[in-house]
Amino acid sequence: MADVVEALRRSFGVGSVVTDPDITSRYLTDWTGRFKGEALCVIRPVNSWQVQRAVEIANASHTPLITQGGNTGLVGGGTPVRGGIVLSTQFLKGIDIDVNSRVAKLGAGVTLSELNTKAKEVGLRFAVDITSRESATVGGMVATNAGGIHLIRYGGTRQQLLGIETVLGNGQLIARMEGLHKDNSGYDWSSILCGSEGTLGVITAVAVKLISVPLHRSVALIAVDTLSGAIRIMRAARREFANLDAVEFMSRNGLELVQRLRTEKWPLGELPPYALLIELEGDDIEVEDVAVFLESHEDVLDAALASDARADGLWFWREQHTVAINHFGVPHKLDVSIPIGGIDSFVRYVSELLELEYPNVRAVIFGHLGDGNVHVNLLNVEESNEELDHEIFATVASFGGSISAEHGIGRAKVDDLTLTRSPQDIESMRTLKKALDPALILNPGVLFN
Ligand code: MLT
Ligand code: ZN
Repeated sequence: MADVVEALRRSFGVGSVVTDPDITSRYLTDWTGRFKGEALCVIRPVNSWQVQRAVEIANASHTPLITQGGNTGLVGGGTPVRGGIVLSTQFLKGIDIDVNSRVAKLGAGVTLSELNTKAKEVGLRFAVDITSRESATVGGMVATNAGGIHLIRYGGTRQQLLGIETVLGNGQLIARMEGLHKDNSGYDWSSILCGSEGTLGVITAVAVKLISVPLHRSVALIAVDTLSGAIRIMRAARREFANLDAVEFMSRNGLELVQRLRTEKWPLGELPPYALLIELEGDDIEVEDVAVFLESHEDVLDAALASDARADGLWFWREQHTVAINHFGVPHKLDVSIPIGGIDSFVRYVSELLELEYPNVRAVIFGHLGDGNVHVNLLNVEESNEELDHEIFATVASFGGSISAEHGIGRAKVDDLTLTRSPQDIESMRTLKKALDPALILNPGVLFN
């Protein structure tokens, strides 16, 4: 194994192959603190040639290669187990924007914020937005097919992709970076690599669509009694407003944690059982229309409305959830999809299950209501209760949902993939994996066990 580090040092230079534990430690634990591992070294390539060299060395020595972006993943997909090479994409930078085509070509290590800062100079932005925007890399968002808070209007990361450059597990460099809006000339590598969680290739660059930055936005934070009521409001809002771009929900437990951590006062009196956040974006938002809509809807208990820069103050209650939850423990993050009509029953089922069988576990349930994406975050799960995750995933399957809406399978859910994907389905995925990564060096233990 010392040979592997030596070979990497010969190719990359001594300083680029990091073994100092003071530096490597931050690459070995995931953002939640739940997944920890060990690695021979961390490498930080600056171009795709170096990535190709790293893949060659990993193949020759049968060493696992784990790709990591901003280390903001929530299912352990970028965390090594032991003995591998962590390849950080953080120095694969560079952004090139074509304003005619509204296309950005960028290195995989560019963060979402960096992309948006550059795009804003020409009045554009990336359509997908996630709360970890400061650290999350666009390459990582592609690898996990990140969904985020605007999926209801623009789709997820896959829908924004126009090209990819990747080094496959077999060492071949595939470059499809023309950034064409239309290209039906065979298999689409962008789609294949998107959501593959580092198991087929190392993504080195991507080409993505950009959209206009709207002139205005209006956000409403709404107190509601039930999730069914929240869904009724969402249905009416979708009928009423063509430019609805976010519909998020929160529950009292999560709002309480945010309040405790940030000592901020909830703007609507007592904390309600549930809260809904809706956002409209466009060049001509009529705030009055939103106010009238909220006043007339019988499921609205109370609401606060804010526009443009002030809207951040209302988003605060939703965006602080992840940080607040992590502050109060190491969560099990069960990010699931449920057909929207079943969300209310699903949440009630999970709450009753916990009350009856796992009284010490605290659930914080929130998510992207418009996409049917429910984030079930569990705190105080002891080792003796590990089967709880499985029980909830089995319930998700029985509701016709998916065990991963937007975070991926990672290491956290490998044992549960069979709940929602058939043996033929998984076998075909394995066939693809073996064809593109024959020595199985890329992210072993992620997606498949
Ligand atoms: C979110 O929607 O805030 C993210 O998916 C993160 C999370 O689940 O904590
Ligand atoms: Zn989310």
